[in-house]
Amino acid sequence: MRLSPSFFYKFIIIFFIGIIVILGANKLKAQDNVAQTQIQPNTSNNSSHFNNNLLNQKVDSVLALMRINEKIGQLVQYSGKWNMTGPSSSNSDQYKLEKLKKGEVGSMLNITSVTSIRETQRIVIEHSRLKIPLIFAYDVIHGYKTIFPIPLGESASWDLKIIEQSAAIAAKESAASGLNWTFAPMIDVSRDARWGRVMEGVGEDTFLNSEIGVARIKGFQGNNLSDNSTIAACAKHFAGYGFGEAGRDYNTVNIGENELHNVILPPFKAAANAGVATFMNAFNDIDGIPATGDKVLQRDLLKGEWNFNGFIVSDWGSIAEMEVHGYAKDEKHAAEIALNAGSDMDMQSFAYETYLEILLNEKKVSIAQIDDAVKRVLRIKFELGLFDDPYKYCNEERERTEVYSEENLAIARDVAKKSIVLLKNENKILPLSKSIGSIAVIGPLADDKNSPLGNWRAKGEYNSAVSLLEGVKASVEKNTKVYYEKGIDLTIPTVKPGENQFSQPLKFNTTDRSDIKKAVEAAKKTEVVLLAIGEDAYQSGEGRSQTDIGFKGLQIELLEAIKAVNPNIVIVLMNGRPMDLSRPTEMVPSILECWHLGSQSGYAIADVIFGDYNPSGKLPVSFPHNVGQEPLYYNQKNTGRPYNARSVTFSAYRDSPKTALYPFGFGLSYTTFKYSDITSSQTKIKVNGNLTVSVKVTNTGDCAGEEVVQLYIRDLVGSLIRPVRELKGFQKVMLKAGESKNVMFTIDSEILQFYTANKKWEVEPGKFNVWIGGSSEAELKTSFNVEE
Ligand code: BGC
Repeated sequence: MRLSPSFFYKFIIIFFIGIIVILGANKLKAQDNVAQTQIQPNTSNNSSHFNNNLLNQKVDSVLALMRINEKIGQLVQYSGKWNMTGPSSSNSDQYKLEKLKKGEVGSMLNITSVTSIRETQRIVIEHSRLKIPLIFAYDVIHGYKTIFPIPLGESASWDLKIIEQSAAIAAKESAASGLNWTFAPMIDVSRDARWGRVMEGVGEDTFLNSEIGVARIKGFQGNNLSDNSTIAACAKHFAGYGFGEAGRDYNTVNIGENELHNVILPPFKAAANAGVATFMNAFNDIDGIPATGDKVLQRDLLKGEWNFNGFIVSDWGSIAEMEVHGYAKDEKHAAEIALNAGSDMDMQSFAYETYLEILLNEKKVSIAQIDDAVKRVLRIKFELGLFDDPYKYCNEERERTEVYSEENLAIARDVAKKSIVLLKNENKILPLSKSIGSIAVIGPLADDKNSPLGNWRAKGEYNSAVSLLEGVKASVEKNTKVYYEKGIDLTIPTVKPGENQFSQPLKFNTTDRSDIKKAVEAAKKTEVVLLAIGEDAYQSGEGRSQTDIGFKGLQIELLEAIKAVNPNIVIVLMNGRPMDLSRPTEMVPSILECWHLGSQSGYAIADVIFGDYNPSGKLPVSFPHNVGQEPLYYNQKNTGRPYNARSVTFSAYRDSPKTALYPFGFGLSYTTFKYSDITSSQTKIKVNGNLTVSVKVTNTGDCAGEEVVQLYIRDLVGSLIRPVRELKGFQKVMLKAGESKNVMFTIDSEILQFYTANKKWEVEPGKFNVWIGGSSEAELKTSFNVEE
């Protein structure tokens, strides 16, 4: 049906009259000082996310009602708990309560459960003048109560579908518990195993960080933020936090523009393009400018060039910390710098609430800047549907039925098994038969039901994971004898069981060897030993940097004692960072990288050990020969002296290899894959042209398996030096025994461009090499030329 022009014009006129009437009504209400906002129901759908005129009009209609203290209040975020993830503040709960009642708080973090969230929201809705709902945030990093593998582990699946699914479950459980905003995903490219937070991200590669970051954002936010199973996501930490010098947390970052634009920023650009609702800035400085006070990054690039319309939250106390950095004279100056730089919401610095109005009167910040920040916050609240119903996410029935459900646990098991990486498997020691006569399950982590939950475990309950021992017992046949011995304790407890360990340093056991003997006895009488060693959950995570990435305490001693009586050892490694595996690699036939896999850890590991699932994970980060190689990453620059066997004066170490022990992208399967017949559709393309490169992948083993086929390129000459290789595509393919498939990649200007010496994203003409294979050391190669 075609609409007549007159009908169309009438519709437009009626629509605008409607808007004017509503705005007028709002204004009148404001003048009457009526404590009831006149806000239109949220009919917007999120596909028009952010650039929706109607949405902007709603936001403006609220803004028009607001007084300055209420505006500033929207830019304030308090923690509901003491020092969950940062230093505590001196402001009492009573103080916070009064601020909530006055409508001078925009968001709370660290309040969980429907009851507590409803109660907190009620304070604002029943007491404040404008009843602007709070947005509730929490660090839902790898699951809410159903805990998924730590993000680094999950990234090893290279499976975007399941990563999206895991974020969607985390969002569903959070939303069912009253939350509407998570501080995830962390998409800080990180190349240093010493940094504790390497566990929280995707690892060392820019492309993989972009792809997985977007998958997580899609999972958290779905297609529609107002759906009550989705929550707002937060791309963090903008920017450079993963590059702290020497892997020390919160440390200074000294990088150049090339690294910033080509390595660190692309995942954030991808997140902005994917419609992420919020960004978080970072604790670190880059070359002398704290990220929280960086106008070029936040205002010019993110909000300007990238057109990001969501809001930026500071990191915990990072506004006030600019004084400690030596960048701001005092907290007032810090507030001025932060707002001018584009930081919208102040998490726990209390600087905006104390100083913004004064700064406004002194004309050090403008009302336009404050209004812009407030509008950004309101827009997300509208999108979440909180203005329609501030208690929308508060449903006890959903909290009871949708959290930690059987269905969610089954998905967690699936994600966990797909995150495991088989690093070594001599003589095909794995998979084990379920009817094997005897197994010894040994090690400090073998029956640990807590460590597999990882560091950022949200509401994951203490000791709730399935241990390796439980998984093994559930898998083997009745007649198999399973012996368990801890052998040693890894740590000496510093808090009572179940108490918050977040801010406690760990103590390692270096003296108590009393149980090693029993472990040796068990190893002696069994066919195979599964040795669970690695790291405690709290060895990685925030504030958990280490200068040593080896096995703490007496673990290697335990390994040596067992090896002396039984060489058939499978190391089941549980850890939150790349570790120095040089000794274990020399000593044992098999190593299975199991990270901290979450609630279903033991079942998932048993799925792989007994061959119900053929491992398909690939490392998202390089594992070095020793800590001295860190930071180590595959996509290095060539240097002017990459190799010269006849001299010492080339870029290398005299006491260690310079490449990884287990490289980025590496991972074995119970079958083998052969790559052949690499072909390129063209040998020359124009700068805006494209070509396809394809390869034949054959399963040459005797069982079905999945392979992550990886595409790497090298731009041989650049106006800025390009890395020796860069990942630019991957596909996970399933092949039956003996089966071959052709896998094809399209290479276009999106893939070939980089941030050049012209300070622009451009494709530079010249020769490109292409490799396709099963790791960053792929050998099968072709090349092509790009012409003007
Ligand atoms: C971390 C953030 C986290 C925040 C809130 C900070 O210490 O750096 O990543 O989201 O605390 O818990």
